[in-house]
Amino acid sequence: MKVTVFNGSPRGRTGNTHLIVEPLLEGAIQAGGDTEEVFLVEHDIKHCLGCFSCWGKTPGKCVHNDDMASLIALFIDSDYVGLATPVYGMFMTALLKKFTERLIPLNMPYINKNTDGSFFHDGRVKRFPRQFMIANAGFPGEHNFDLLKAYMALQNPVLEIYRNCGELLRNRELVTSPVTQKKISDYFQALRDAGSEIVNHGHVSVEIMKKINENLITDEEYMALVNQGWDEELKGI
Ligand SMILES: Cc1cc2nc3c(=O)[nH]c(=O)nc-3n(C[C@H](O)[C@H](O)[C@H](O)COP(=O)(O)O)c2cc1C
Repeated sequence: MKVTVFNGSPRGRTGNTHLIVEPLLEGAIQAGGDTEEVFLVEHDIKHCLGCFSCWGKTPGKCVHNDDMASLIALFIDSDYVGLATPVYGMFMTALLKKFTERLIPLNMPYINKNTDGSFFHDGRVKRFPRQFMIANAGFPGEHNFDLLKAYMALQNPVLEIYRNCGELLRNRELVTSPVTQKKISDYFQALRDAGSEIVNHGHVSVEIMKKINENLITDEEYMALVNQGWDEELKGI
């Protein structure tokens, strides 16, 4: 069972997004899964030119000669694919968006109509991975994920992680409240459990999903933590 996560944080290995992906994939490994996290920032990925050569002149093949050919091969070779991103401007980063746009050679050109009146392209490949979303936002609250939720509703996802107060993860050593510390450690365990459940059962239980998307810190405690960090950095400038 291959579980691959494409991480679209410009911070790559040092980001909050990676701190969510890591335990999830640890859980998948514990359950016997084969895992990989791809840091898109470390790859050469050009913008889609919109030329549709991959649908016409060279079916399934992009005009660009960059890392996307091997990343697409990895994508379709996976059973589960996670799209991981910090929220930037209420949506995914440009880096992850660029990656998703470059998946267009996997579609056939013809437009089909669903019975509900929506439209779709057939896939070029027979076996398409189930997808999941891992997002984290710098703000508290839920509305920063609205656009990502709408996007994922079209993908029939196996799991959706919408972590608010995302900067808490990199700064978790600064947390003084034992209640919050316990919530963070339970959160990392729930992520491991989710990774194991994906590999073992092909879905994640409602109980684990609930734990994963629970608030970890009060808005006031989070604001104090983050704002104090800026105070320190700006002191003396
Ligand atoms: C250009 C930019 C845009 C951002 N836009 C949002 C936003 O719309 N909503 C939000 O909650 N956080 C926003 N953030 C904050 C990030 O989502 C947050 O810092 C996140 O934890 C970064 O994750 P990473 O460390 O994995 O990159 C933005 C950050 C940057 C740099």
